[in-house]
Amino acid sequence: MPVTIRTLQKYKQEQRKFSVLTAYDATFSRLISDAGVEAMLIGDSLGNVIQGQQSTVPVTLEQMVYHTECVARGNQNSLIIADVPFMGAATLERTLDAATQLMRAGANVIKLEGGAWLEEAVTVLKRNGIPVCVHMGLTPQSVNAFGGYRVQGKDEAGARELLEAAITLDRAGTALFVLECVPRGLSAEITANVQAPVIGIGAAPECDGQVLVLHDMLGLNPRPARFVKDFMAGAGDIAAAVRAYDQAVKDGSFPAEEHCF
Ligand code: KIV
Ligand code: NA
Repeated sequence: MPVTIRTLQKYKQEQRKFSVLTAYDATFSRLISDAGVEAMLIGDSLGNVIQGQQSTVPVTLEQMVYHTECVARGNQNSLIIADVPFMGAATLERTLDAATQLMRAGANVIKLEGGAWLEEAVTVLKRNGIPVCVHMGLTPQSVNAFGGYRVQGKDEAGARELLEAAITLDRAGTALFVLECVPRGLSAEITANVQAPVIGIGAAPECDGQVLVLHDMLGLNPRPARFVKDFMAGAGDIAAAVRAYDQAVKDGSFPAEEHCF
């Protein structure tokens, strides 16, 4: 049975964890989907891992559409989430154009980086049949504004702002959240206070699901972030590494304390 946003909502209610991995091509899409990973994200992290860029800023909508088409062809039953790239939320018109193209390319959900100001975009997209995943916390498209890749929501004011934004966006009908590099306690609090399933990366085991960049969890990143675990270590092949990740997310053993902030 294909995974839908309803499947993930049901899992949240049942307190059953789900796994997500990034995918950029048809071959890995088939492998990840066959392993029973509930959702695949065509992340603009493809700028880093496929293109060798320093950040996700150079990634274009055309490139996101191309990789979404590739992943959609290899997919069996996973939910497909596609990133709206840099500047995609600058105007509502741009957001709607990007969402249209990504949905036509095979996405089931589109992901936007940002905060409370995305309320209108979430409302309009939902009204038009497009589920939105909002990525909060460390939003890599804003690396230049942050002055580096840093944990977000560490002080009280920042934490309150994140929690309030999540609640506002949840009420507006956000389908999913991604929390990246948000302290564990705050991540757990946000997860408990929104209806939508929350996917963590450098967040908390209390999140409803977890995501990692495929190349990171295969041990291909020479300078992995704290929240990464190499599942290739000890696995016989790539399919076994992906299954080990899926298992570790579902049994709650990943992420451990050492992967959180
Ligand atoms: O682009 C990406 O891979 C992402 C995940 C890390 C959440 O946005
Ligand atoms: Na991304």
